[in-house]
Amino acid sequence: MNGFTFPEEFLWGASTSAFQVEGGAAEGGKGPATTDRGPGRPGISDNRVASDFYHHWREDIELMAELGIDVYRMGFSWSRIMPDATGEPNPEGLAFYDAVIDRLLEKDIEPLVTLYHFECPQVLVDAFGGWKSRRMIDAYLRYAEVCFRHFKGRVKRWVTVNEQLIATAAPDNTGDDERDPRRRQKNTYQMSYHVALAEHRAIALLRSIDPDASIGPVCAMQVVYPRSSSSGDILAAMNAEEMLQNYLLDLSVRGTVSPYVSFYLKREGFAPAVEPGDAEVLASSRPDFLGVNYYFSSCARERVEPIRFDRFPPWSGGDFELCDNPCASSTEWMANGIDPLGLRIGMRRLYDRYQLPMIVTENGMALSEELSSDGKVDDPYRIDYLAQHIAEVGELVREGYPVLGYCVWSLMDLCSSHQGFAKRYGLVFVDRTDTDVKECRRVRKSSFFWYQQVIENRGLPDRS
Ligand code: BG6
Repeated sequence: MNGFTFPEEFLWGASTSAFQVEGGAAEGGKGPATTDRGPGRPGISDNRVASDFYHHWREDIELMAELGIDVYRMGFSWSRIMPDATGEPNPEGLAFYDAVIDRLLEKDIEPLVTLYHFECPQVLVDAFGGWKSRRMIDAYLRYAEVCFRHFKGRVKRWVTVNEQLIATAAPDNTGDDERDPRRRQKNTYQMSYHVALAEHRAIALLRSIDPDASIGPVCAMQVVYPRSSSSGDILAAMNAEEMLQNYLLDLSVRGTVSPYVSFYLKREGFAPAVEPGDAEVLASSRPDFLGVNYYFSSCARERVEPIRFDRFPPWSGGDFELCDNPCASSTEWMANGIDPLGLRIGMRRLYDRYQLPMIVTENGMALSEELSSDGKVDDPYRIDYLAQHIAEVGELVREGYPVLGYCVWSLMDLCSSHQGFAKRYGLVFVDRTDTDVKECRRVRKSSFFWYQQVIENRGLPDRS
């Protein structure tokens, strides 16, 4: 696919999320959030500073402009905009995002804004248990309404929720302190159900406030291969895709779940509590696009042992067993194996099921990196990874699939969701470690200059 020129309207972008880059946890009237993790938690760096975007945003937007991106996929911090449970917005929080959004627009960079990326306001967890309660739906809608009205005409594309799978399964994000594995699992499904109701109501709300804007969910795309060609392994891989992806997207897009999912949830006692009128809400709207996050594929085989619900992540238990894929090459941080073709396979499946335009909202390569003695970061392995995945996106475009754009994860090094700054994805190096935040100086990696060329040429360099 080297030499293929992407269409003029294809969006080249880079991604981050609020809690992973912003920092400024105690500034600008921000309230506490589940993701504000201070020092002292082994293996997890201090999110309260993160990449210090809160103080470096002007410089970071200059870097984005230099890179040449069309779209910056960013997040709003709910607890910065709505710091308490009153439902009243924080003027300083809105002013921060006003400044960021206005500067992006001045630089001709479209903000693609995620409303909810793992970060749950702690006050709402303390008040009623966060997403475990239906009250969270109204709280989310109030937050969404404030954002839709305030940024109307400036933000034209919204993401409802990033990766429901992780957003509702990781207790670090949800604030759920349930210890009993089965009850915790039940809570997870109840939370996803509430998230889906909130998403559909938010879509309808946006249509009434700003009909010119578009909105959609971002999924953690699952490409699950059977470990062998035995029918038991094939069914296991299907079950895994149903439970790890289709279940959630079916709720977000179609407002229903498949007979298998419904059967499984009832069989295990995990079916969420439903109220009259829910089915109408779920059927009342359809997103405009699907955001796709993809890092690697997975592999599953037939389950022989009984399901264990005490393993983490909680959703890894089901009528399947996740296992190694002997065909994929793994690295320290990409343990499942790197599989560029999986991106094409997964997106074709998504299109076949949902017929929605898609945008790659996250794709990138994690490594532990340091500055060299001459103050640089040379990352040919990342360039290789990105080139192979962009080539597959190019194939999808050539085949006629509606792919709106591609965003690298991540614009800059940020706090990995569980491994802190030991695990880096950025095109821009952020000079800090897990234990020493230093000044968070920005240093362009070689992948930055490479991606700049890709954007300028609207495609990969021709190596033939
Ligand atoms: C996605 C998330 O799950 O993967 C990001 O949307 C996350 O927030 C990314 O950082 C990579 O995962 P990790 O665990 O390496 O940070």
